[in-house]
Amino acid sequence: MKRVLVIHYSQTGQLTGLLERIVSPLTQAGIHVDHLAIRPQKPYPFPWSRLTFFNAFPEAVGRDTIPLEPFEVPEGPYDLVILGYTIWYLNPSIPTNSFLLHPQARACLEGRPVLTVIAPRNMWVMAQEYVRGRIADAGGRPVGNISVVDRSGNLTSVVTVIRWMFWGRKDPFLVFPHAGIRQKDMDGAARFGPIIADHLQRDALADLNPALLVAGSARIAPTLLVLERRGLFIFGKWRRFIIAKADRAPASRIRRVKFFSVALPIIIFLAAPISGLSVRIMGLLKGRALKAEIARILRY
Ligand SMILES: Cc1cc2nc3c(=O)[nH]c(=O)nc-3n(C[C@H](O)[C@H](O)[C@H](O)COP(=O)(O)O)c2cc1C
Repeated sequence: MKRVLVIHYSQTGQLTGLLERIVSPLTQAGIHVDHLAIRPQKPYPFPWSRLTFFNAFPEAVGRDTIPLEPFEVPEGPYDLVILGYTIWYLNPSIPTNSFLLHPQARACLEGRPVLTVIAPRNMWVMAQEYVRGRIADAGGRPVGNISVVDRSGNLTSVVTVIRWMFWGRKDPFLVFPHAGIRQKDMDGAARFGPIIADHLQRDALADLNPALLVAGSARIAPTLLVLERRGLFIFGKWRRFIIAKADRAPASRIRRVKFFSVALPIIIFLAAPISGLSVRIMGLLKGRALKAEIARILRY
């Protein structure tokens, strides 16, 4: 009997719901599935307050770790590990990164094929490049990735995700759609389960990712990739600004986080037209190089 270990951290349960849809066809196919939930010692609040939400920024961008609840390493042996995670500020969520850099991560991943499942808003590519590296560092073998995103426009989903995170409301309002991943896309993710089960049963994990891609497991828009790179660069600068005086004057961090919490949404909306145009021009100028890079990123 094949055995699969699912490791994940989900705050609101969206990612958990996605994983359930992907994994239940495995159980139906007679595959044994174990779960390991990553739990921060100090849980993040939901809904978030404005301050706590933006105060998580420096650690997420700096890829710092937090203490996790102690966990036992499931014994296995496992034929596949599925690592489900979400994105915080263009990086893996802090609990996910804390797991990847945890001394026990190696015991969970070493020598095992690892499939990642990401449920972000829309920007996951650079985070996945980093996660792929950490999986390899822990002795795991990345074999593929599934990213199910919120398909609303970039600015639309900024509004709906903020309302969801700060007030816990996902329902459509005014001209805005339902927040998060669409129900149709959540339910549709069940199609990946039989593909995973089939490749596991046939010991053909080397062919898994190409088959998942044909089923629409991951799409990278060149413009979003350019925007994401730019965002990561600017986030690094904001992080340095926020923590610059934090050692000597702890109150300065909170003052700067408050400033950032107002500045970031304004910058996103004011800069959108110019940045949208420059990103498109960049996409045209570097079209071929970007396509080659995207093909490399999607290859496992
Ligand atoms: C602090 C924070 C920052 C986030 N930043 C991003 C981001 O940069 N890019 C993105 O695509 N989604 C971002 N999201 C959305 C998450 O990736 C995810 O879709 C959402 O939090 C729901 O995940 P859950 O299953 O953990 O509840 C962010 C969420 C939080 C809480």
